[in-house]
Amino acid sequence: MTTPLLPLGTERLLLRLFTPDDLDDLYAYQGLSEVARFLYRPPLTREQCVQSLTRRAAGTAWAEDGDDLVVAVCPVGESKVVGEVVLKLASARARQVEIGWAFNPEYGGRGYATEAARAVAALAFAELGAHRLFARLDVLNTGSVRVCERLAMRREAHLVENDLDDERWGSEYVYAMLAREWKVDRT
Ligand SMILES: CC(C)(COP(=O)(O)OP(=O)(O)OC[C@H]1O[C@@H](n2cnc3c(N)ncnc32)[C@H](O)[C@@H]1OP(=O)(O)O)[C@@H](O)C(=O)NCCC(=O)NCCS
Repeated sequence: MTTPLLPLGTERLLLRLFTPDDLDDLYAYQGLSEVARFLYRPPLTREQCVQSLTRRAAGTAWAEDGDDLVVAVCPVGESKVVGEVVLKLASARARQVEIGWAFNPEYGGRGYATEAARAVAALAFAELGAHRLFARLDVLNTGSVRVCERLAMRREAHLVENDLDDERWGSEYVYAMLAREWKVDRT
């Protein structure tokens, strides 16, 4: 796949591939510790954002385990990127796809993450052939828990202290949805 599926539009958003011109917008949120807090890694440096953009702008193959698609989210009428939704092919054989998101907190609390994630989930099921879509999130990440629940994903697992972030043991929820549940939910 060479990402012919993008750009696509929702009611309030344009979803597209990143370009090298998005550096300032990407760094504006990926450089924040509050955004990195639940990602089990430090905030990105500006240089790391440059490298990430080069990779993101090339799109992706969608064939092998680990391939990913990073979607830039722009409010309609603004050229600004306010966040991203990521799809990762966790298992090509079993059509298992992981979804994740990160948004600029300046644009939080408007429903943009939910609206973008819903559209990208639809793309995963309808265009990329996902059988199961799942998300892993820290149990303290209440904003992400709410996004999953608004998408009607099921809480499948509660992993207890399965990761370590500096001195803190992290626990995770796994949320998921099957293609047939997505179809049922849309009718
Ligand atoms: C997770 C994250 C994307 C959630 O952001 P968010 O702003 O809470 O989510 P949304 O953009 O979907 O906004 C939802 C809120 O907007 C409100 N809202 C306001 N106007 C709205 C509108 N017109 N339409 C829909 N919702 C609207 C909703 O009621 C909801 O508020 P609530 O959660 O208090 O009920 C954000 O916290 C983030 O980027 N965190 C850092 C990265 C991260 O942790 N990623 C996940 C790793 S697994």
